[in-house]
This record gives sequence, structure tokens and C-alpha cells, in this order.
Amino acid sequence: MRKPMVAGNWKMNGNLESIRQLMDGLKAGVDSVESAEVVVCPPFIYVPKVVGMCDGTKIQAGAQNLCDQNSGAFTGEVSGEMIKDVGCQIVLVGHSERRSIYGETDEAVADKFAKAQELGLKPILCVGELLEERENNITEEVVGRQLDAVINKSGIQALANSVVAYEPVWAIGTGKTASPEQAQEVHAFIRSKIASLDAGIADGLQLLYGGSVKSGNATELFSQADIDGGLIGGASLDATEFLAICKAAK
Ligand code: 13P
Repeated sequence: MRKPMVAGNWKMNGNLESIRQLMDGLKAGVDSVESAEVVVCPPFIYVPKVVGMCDGTKIQAGAQNLCDQNSGAFTGEVSGEMIKDVGCQIVLVGHSERRSIYGETDEAVADKFAKAQELGLKPILCVGELLEERENNITEEVVGRQLDAVINKSGIQALANSVVAYEPVWAIGTGKTASPEQAQEVHAFIRSKIASLDAGIADGLQLLYGGSVKSGNATELFSQADIDGGLIGGASLDATEFLAICKAAK
């Protein structure tokens, strides 16, 4: 049985005070989450603080990005070593905002994924198609290409200690969720693609759905056979809402 996971991606939101309140709310309620692994990914500058706040709770802190280099003249970047150094074990890789706003190519994402793996960080690899790509019926081609970049660089074994998040770009922050059937279809595609290379890895892989997940639609999405939890943006900034989503992942 795959353990469900719900990860909150706070993106570039919050400040010391709002994060303290959010974490207080999460800590007060997280023990009522029975099944899911609970992860929060704050903006870099707050990561060490949130790691401290997670201490002694079952909440894990993750980072939203990493550099594909270890150290050196890379102004503005943060290395995987640094992420590990402050006590994080999880990192998002290839979020659609990194791909579309900051120009990360499939190859750049694959390099970051490989670096995270090399350091023993667990990458949450984000994949997903644009609206135009869905309308042109090339969703599987796009998601397949994004996965292949990682598999070709790191090998299928590298997916054994990772998580994959399917986030259709048209559903992110738009209030438009993929229907449970639409999401399941792509999740089943991802799992069968991986199964064609290694059935055991495919079977154990946590596959998260992201894109306008809320407490009101989480149960139906998470009840799909190949959806093992969620990657949550906006709704993860509200403790009550995020905890309700975590509880829906069973
Ligand atoms: P929303 O839940 O705000 O649509 O964001 C999804 C997302 O991008 C999580 O990484």
C-alpha cells in the first residue's frame, strides 16, 4: 500500500508572523491526520525557521527549488547541500512556475532532480501540460517527455526514492480543477509508463495531484486509484483548509 502524501507549496507567500500563525494552526491539528505524510514547503528564507517549528511534530519541511551545483559563484541560488544542512529532506523540482516563468527546461529539471538524488534529498518532480497542449491532445506526449528527461539522465531506479506530482498548468491557481477522471487518466498514464520500465517502482510511487485542490474537492480526487495525495498551493496557506485536505488523503 502506498502511503498518501499531502504537500503544501506556499510559493512566495507569507511573512514571519503569518507563518508562525499558520504553523501554530497546523501543529494544533496535525495529530488528527491519520494516514497522510504532511509536508510544507516555505519560501527559502523561512525554511530553517519552519524546520525548527516542525521539530517534534509529524510535519516535514521541504524546499521549493534547488541549484544543480554544489557551491560557488551562483549568486542568488541555494544548493541541495544547504537545504540538507538546515534539516530538510524534501525538495520540489520542476514546478510549472519554475519551468514557465524562469525558463527551466526539461534538461535543467533533470539536472536538479539528479542533484537532489545524489545528495539523498527526496525530490517531488512536478510535471504537467499547458491548456493549449491539452486542447491539442498532446498531454501524454508532454508529460511523457518531462518524465523521460529525468529517466534518461538518472535511470528508472532514481524514481524509487522520489515523488511525482501531476499539476496541469491550466488548473494551477485558476480555481479550475481537473475532474477526478481527467486527473486519474494522466496518473494512470504516468504509472503505466513507469511500470513498463519497472513494475515495482511504479507500484510504490506516490503520485500527487496538484491544481486548485480544496477541502471540497479533495476527497473525490484522492479516491481515484492512482492519486496518492496532493500538492497544494493556495489552500495550504490556511491551516484549517490544509488539514481538511490532509485528512481526505487516506
Ligand atoms: P493551487 O493549489 O493554488 O492551484 O496551486 C497548485 C500548485 O501549484 C502547487 O504546487
